[in-house]
Amino acid sequence: MNAQAAFSNPFRPGAGHRPPYLAGRQHEKQEFSRLLAQTVVTDNFVITGLRGVGKTVLLEELKPAALSEGWLWVGTDMSESATISEANIAQRLITDLSVVTSSIKVAEEKNSAIGFIGRDQSVDVNLTYDVLIGIYNATPGLVVDKLKALFNVIAPCVAAMGRKGVVFAYDEAQNLADHAQKEQYPLSVLLDLFQSVQRQGIPFLLVFSGLPTLFPKLIEARTYAERMFRVIFLEKLSESETREAIEKPVQETGCPVTFNKSAVAMIYKYSGGYPYFIQFICRESYDAYLQQAADGKPPVVPITGIIRKLDTDFFAGRWSRATDRQQELLSVIASLPNRDSEFTVQEILAKSEEMLKKPFGRSHINQLLTSLISAGLIYRDRHGKYLFAVPLMADFIKRTMESGT
Ligand SMILES: Nc1ncnc2c1ncn2[C@@H]1O[C@H](COP(=O)(O)OP(=O)(O)OP(=O)(O)O)[C@@H](O)[C@H]1O
Ligand SMILES: [Mg+2]
Repeated sequence: MNAQAAFSNPFRPGAGHRPPYLAGRQHEKQEFSRLLAQTVVTDNFVITGLRGVGKTVLLEELKPAALSEGWLWVGTDMSESATISEANIAQRLITDLSVVTSSIKVAEEKNSAIGFIGRDQSVDVNLTYDVLIGIYNATPGLVVDKLKALFNVIAPCVAAMGRKGVVFAYDEAQNLADHAQKEQYPLSVLLDLFQSVQRQGIPFLLVFSGLPTLFPKLIEARTYAERMFRVIFLEKLSESETREAIEKPVQETGCPVTFNKSAVAMIYKYSGGYPYFIQFICRESYDAYLQQAADGKPPVVPITGIIRKLDTDFFAGRWSRATDRQQELLSVIASLPNRDSEFTVQEILAKSEEMLKKPFGRSHINQLLTSLISAGLIYRDRHGKYLFAVPLMADFIKRTMESGT
């Protein structure tokens, strides 16, 4: 019993929580290693995928690989405020860069660009935030010119440290945007900057992760983005990877819980192989197992109760934020045979005529889809077709419709 108490539930449903065992993703890691091996950076990386598929934890997993290959790693979540203006994106980049450069000491006279901040020539200078800002402010021109100048100062210092280059990794990068009405183009500045310095041979690599709206946004800002990024669409886990995600954590010494074959099959079926749902169902099943064992009952996965909890904890909030008309449209979409893959306005139109007394018109459907995209429930792929941005959402809607709630 003591050993049991000492072994706490290893499963971690949550945003960006490292799972007890990271299943699969070998292909994605290999692809990243290939990008790290570039001597001249031509390919940057985009990791995209549905909600909860594991983008954040994969990004975290890539960091040690980059460090061990001799790269520096900077970056954080790309908040909306960081991308309000060109000055803000510059601030973001300089702040992130200063975290790794502040330990770099350079002799001023060796680097004329640092000299113009006006210190004694013989003094060593650390590349702190203030020094970076000093270089940035002292450079004439547009934001992109100032950042280019700064990167040109930093790059040789990074090389002198014996480092290969710098990875700039930004999660939630779907928040990046240009704002034409305010004449602020932070996203374009970012793309122009990296494209330009990479052409000069500076080994600074961009890694973005975010929802599927991310890549179309990059291309909309700069058409050359299409050639600048290697895009990986993170998929759900396969059946064998799901099995590993479930079994490995409970195979640890001292773990009081085991999942038999039928439990694993059930968890695979109901999670659809989606990592967040795997962690959620496993965490609940683990606790239920211990409870059942304590009550002297044979262990079973109480799947109905777990799905109900998942509906409340994960889906209900997203659903209740939709308006009545949005919910009605989502119910029509959830009734399509191809609801789990791509669907078109035409298909929604036809289904709506079949299902509803007052069917939707084409322009109303388009309008509602646009609002559902902003709400993060639906996304539009590059072929102009639509998909759910939240995995298994259609099943949830079906359940809700059937229960009449
Ligand atoms: N390869 C994996 N194996 C097992 N569990 C995983 C794996 N990838 C992610 N998870 C788990 O799935 C959950 C979601 O992961 P994460 O937060 O990285 O997803 P995300 O794609 O960033 O989601 P969001 O779109 O909400 O930002 C976490 O609980 C994490 O532990
Ligand atoms: Mg995430």
